[in-house]
Amino acid sequence: SESLTVGELAKKIYREPSEIIKKLFLLGVMATINQVLDKDAIELIAGEYGVEVEEEIKVDTTDLEVYFTEDAAESQVERPSVVTIMGHVDHGKTTLLDSIRNTKVTEGEAGGITQHIGAYQVVENGKKITFLDTPGHAAFTTMRARGAKITDITILVVAADDGVMPQTVEAINHAKAAEVPIIVAVNKMDKEAANADRVMQELTEHGLVAEAWGGETIFVPLSAKTGEGIDNLLEMILLVGEVEEYKANPNRKAVGTVIEAQLDKGRGSVATLLVQNGTLKIGDPIVVGNTFGRVRAMVNDKGRRVKEAGPSTPVEITGLSDVPQAGDRFVVFEDEKTARHVGEARAQTALVAQRGEKSIVSLETLFDQL
Ligand code: GTP
Ligand code: MG
Repeated sequence: SESLTVGELAKKIYREPSEIIKKLFLLGVMATINQVLDKDAIELIAGEYGVEVEEEIKVDTTDLEVYFTEDAAESQVERPSVVTIMGHVDHGKTTLLDSIRNTKVTEGEAGGITQHIGAYQVVENGKKITFLDTPGHAAFTTMRARGAKITDITILVVAADDGVMPQTVEAINHAKAAEVPIIVAVNKMDKEAANADRVMQELTEHGLVAEAWGGETIFVPLSAKTGEGIDNLLEMILLVGEVEEYKANPNRKAVGTVIEAQLDKGRGSVATLLVQNGTLKIGDPIVVGNTFGRVRAMVNDKGRRVKEAGPSTPVEITGLSDVPQAGDRFVVFEDEKTARHVGEARAQTALVAQRGEKSIVSLETLFDQL
């Protein structure tokens, strides 16, 4: 078709009409939902969402990345930083994650019973920080394999009594490749053999120069065991967050990434999602990787049922027809029909890719077999 109304175009590219009206407004055009757009205007708007206009508007709805476009600056607000922890074997990654959770979550959290959902949030100086509980290496490998960016900041844990080791260097390379800022946690400072200067010296050789030495890398000496220095680390994370200004638009349909997922005997498919933009709500029609469904129940990192989850929030959901994979993208759609359509198309594509092209049933192949 040569022309569409704003409302029709919005529907075709799975967007809110208000979003398109806003885009038009920024281009100097006052429009309503019934405004008719010509071919050029349609191309311009569709192009902003990475949608190519041919004769008919065709959207590759099976490509979930299409929905990860950034929103207009004025619709974005501050969101918590998403942090992962990396470092050499035994340098204290797990102890640090536990220590942060225990010191921070138990304060003011009734009972302090934390359900393990692969990610958690803490509050420091009234601001939230999200920690991904998955090993940093795995998170980065998944991110690289799927092209899904999930981490804002990485904490590089280096044991002060051991110094820079092979996996320390590997972690630095991962973070640099992903262009994720690094904060160095010089751990095990409680040990007698601890030598923070040596760690600083060694990391200098890998391009991480401490601020104290005229560089730009934040070093935080701490002990994951005693808890000493952890508040300082959290403050540094907030500082980096302020500088980098991580933002998202809570007033749109949610998109994000799967942190982990499994099949639960009683509850069926259970997936921990990191909401990266928008707000996820109970009842939302959703496509997750190659599966789909409706968000039936949501549980936060404290094990509490919640009705919605905003940007940077990890949340565990049920209601999917199948089990997605870590690193899969998720997108909330307007209605269940669309979610089903996209989900089934993706499942079909995945199946075909898995079995090879031969399994496609066409009239031709049917006749061949007769
Ligand atoms: P992997 O997951 O195997 O790579 O190890 P990790 O980096 O998660 O290290 P983990 O937290 O398991 O700690 C390894 C050992 O170091 C454990 O025995 C911890 O108790 C100890 N440890 C961790 N942090 C500290 C610390 O700050 N001080 C001291 N003294 N020991 C620590
Ligand atoms: Mg560990």
